[in-house]
Amino acid sequence: MELDRWLSHRLDKTKEAGLYRKFRTMNTAPLPEMLIDGQRQIVFSSNNYLGLANDRRLVYAAETSLHDFGVGSSGSRLTTGHTEWHQKLEERIASFKQTEKALLFSSGYLANVGVLSSLPEKGDVILSDQLNHASIIDGCRLSNADTVIYSHVDMGDLEEKLKETASYQRRFIVTDGVFSMDGTIAPLDQMLSLGKRYHAYVIVDDAHATGVLGENGRGTSEYFGVHPDVVIGTLSKAVGTEGGFVAGSKVLIDFLLNHARTFIFQTAMPPAICAASYAAIEIIEDSKEIRQLLFSNVKKIKISLEEMGYTVKGDLTPIIPVIIGDTEKAVQFAKKLQEKGIHAPAIRPPTVPIGESRIRLTVSSDHGSKEIDYLLESFNFIGKELNMIK
Ligand SMILES: Cc1ncc(COP(=O)(O)O)c(C=O)c1O
Repeated sequence: MELDRWLSHRLDKTKEAGLYRKFRTMNTAPLPEMLIDGQRQIVFSSNNYLGLANDRRLVYAAETSLHDFGVGSSGSRLTTGHTEWHQKLEERIASFKQTEKALLFSSGYLANVGVLSSLPEKGDVILSDQLNHASIIDGCRLSNADTVIYSHVDMGDLEEKLKETASYQRRFIVTDGVFSMDGTIAPLDQMLSLGKRYHAYVIVDDAHATGVLGENGRGTSEYFGVHPDVVIGTLSKAVGTEGGFVAGSKVLIDFLLNHARTFIFQTAMPPAICAASYAAIEIIEDSKEIRQLLFSNVKKIKISLEEMGYTVKGDLTPIIPVIIGDTEKAVQFAKKLQEKGIHAPAIRPPTVPIGESRIRLTVSSDHGSKEIDYLLESFNFIGKELNMIK
């Protein structure tokens, strides 16, 4: 009981800080409208940007593979877990990302940690954007290299930090492609130029850009027409399944296969998930229309909210952060949205800076005009009720 008492005390502090988290139960498949804790809600908080998580073609691919290969992979990739579906998916990801090779990890989180804890060595330095994802931060913490933080997408500051770190053996610049809380697109073209000028390698985590940015959905590399040294990604967002990957040169992949501990000491992804992911990438590459639909939804929501008088952060991506400011007000706003049947969370400090609490909307190509109009009507109503807009 001693342990429980101590942990309860710590949890009380978490609650006092307003940071206590708990589950909400989804009673239906991932769709724009779902039953959540038994209540019908329109969902504007999912990463299922292209509506593929419940797509019948993916379900069919997974079912077929389940039938042939069973449920679990039964071992790590280097023991008994490597199937022809892992092989096929890695080849498909490499051709999709236009790299020589790719390597699957069990999640995007593990891909980031695996790369950052194995690639940079003692005597090297990692230059990391201030708003990079937690998995990048954890990868930096596990690395033997030093880490230097530069201001969010501030290329002047990055250049300054590159000059200051000239004495290090090697330098690695690491960035989210699209930032998960701000919806900003990292200026990869400028980062690669800086990388070239200052002899630094560029690593991009394209979790939120894969399937979304670029004409064929290849991500930020395609969007800017550049080739970073290391491309990391996840299958858990627009691809609609789960698992992570790294794409790059043959040597890079061979190195990670031999050195990334989160690859070596991890059970391989289930083959059925690989089969579904393979089907998803085929769809992503073939269907420019889904992305057009997605971006027409994004534009409509962003423009309408700005016209209403809201401050909307970020670039043109499916992540739309609506700044509320005060934390309590943001929580109240999210509660009012929920009462209206809309699921969109309030994001508070320390995830975002003090005074920048927000409602983080995410948009899917699956959202219809009925759902979007209802969202906008609700923002208009609640904003006026809380004296935020006129
Ligand atoms: C930028 C970024 N990188 C990595 C991840 C982790 O990906 P996964 O959910 O596949 O572990 C996330 C997901 O939350 C993310 O937003």
